[in-house]
Formats: sequence, structure tokens, C-alpha cells
Amino acid sequence: MNKVIISPSILSADFANLEKEIKLIKDAGADWVHIDVMDGHFVPNITIGVPVVKSIKKITDLTLDTHLMIDNPEDFITQFVQAGSDILTFHYEACADRADDVIKKIKSAGIKAGISIKPKTDPREIIPFLNKVDLVLIMTVEPGFGGQEFMHECAMKIPVIKENAPENLIIQVDGGINNLTSKICTSLGAESLVAGSYIFKSNDYGRAVRSLL
Ligand code: DX5
Ligand code: ZN
Repeated sequence: MNKVIISPSILSADFANLEKEIKLIKDAGADWVHIDVMDGHFVPNITIGVPVVKSIKKITDLTLDTHLMIDNPEDFITQFVQAGSDILTFHYEACADRADDVIKKIKSAGIKAGISIKPKTDPREIIPFLNKVDLVLIMTVEPGFGGQEFMHECAMKIPVIKENAPENLIIQVDGGINNLTSKICTSLGAESLVAGSYIFKSNDYGRAVRSLL
């Protein structure tokens, strides 16, 4: 198996010390930084926007893995690309009838495109897009907040995507990932793990990252 990509979600980091937190996760062995963008419409919470992504880009060389939990994602692609996002993942539910166009817009900007599904969405709905994206993000909690409990039934979507995916597609999971649920997901075929509270609420980020693998 290839190396599992660890993407700590800074939603659970200390925002007053973001630069320090990002350096600590890099030293801990993280591969990417997961940035949760929420608009208060698609999900009932507001978090990080374009200016913060721009600032993070200046202080790290980690891959900026940007998770858009927003309505009308197509309206913000250019801004997030210019801010330095390396991967832009949008929610299929936010633009089901225009997902093709959203993927094209992200790819034509020269960065990686991801498509995400919420817990209630049938994974078979996104099979037509698997050849067009670089990453599929399977939510294992309802998007909106960190610190929620892992939904085991969502992990069962991993093999459905895997069976229909081209070889280089990255399957990522997000929500309730810890040292136990990470193993369930990787054994089912996940290649990238997002973890927020498990890493940032621990007192040893290095140990937390290693325990996910
Ligand atoms: C939730 C976000 C997640 C969140 C995960 O909507 O997409 O990235 O930060 O947090 P934990 O790992 O605490 O469940
Ligand atoms: Zn996320």
C-alpha cells in the first residue's frame, strides 16, 4: 500500500497561534493542511475564508487541502486558487447539476479537484465523476463541526468508490478520525485521513499522527 496521507484539520487548532500550530503539525509528520471553509448556508457554521488561506500559504510549504462546505462553490474557485490552495474539494450536494463545470473550472486553474459527499448521499451518485477528479472526500460525520463521533456506516462507502475508481484517485475520509477509526478506513481503502480534534487536542502531535498510521 502507498503511504497514507495525513491532513490535519486546523479547525481544531489554536487560531491565535496558527503559524506555530502548522509548524508543529509539519514536524509531527503531516503531509497536508486541511482547511475547512464554511459559509453558514451549506453548513450551519462559519469558519475560514480566502484571506486566511493566503496567509497560511506564506508560512508553509505543506499542500493546502481546502475543503469547501459552501453553496455555489464555482463563485469562489478563482479566489481560492489565487490564495494558494493546492487542492479544492467541493460538495456534490452544493452543485449536483453543475458538478462537471465545477470540476472543469478547478482543473483548468491547474490544481487538484476533489468531490465530497455528506453522510446521507449515496456514493453511486458520484461514480460518473470519478474519472474527472483527483480526490473523493467521504464525510464520516455531518459537515459543520469538529469533534463529532465517527459514523461507521459512512466508511462502507469507501469500497463502493474504490471499485469504480481509477488507480490514482485518492480516497479521503473526514470526521471522527482517531487511532481506531483510521484503521477501519485505511483497511477499507482510504488513502488520506483528515483529523482535527484527535491531533490538535492531543498533547503530542507527533504521537497522534503516528498513531493514525
Ligand atoms: C467537519 C470538517 C472536518 C473537521 C473534522 O465539517 O470537515 O474537517 O474539522 O474534525 P474532527 O477530526 O474533530 O472530527
Ligand atoms: Zn473537512
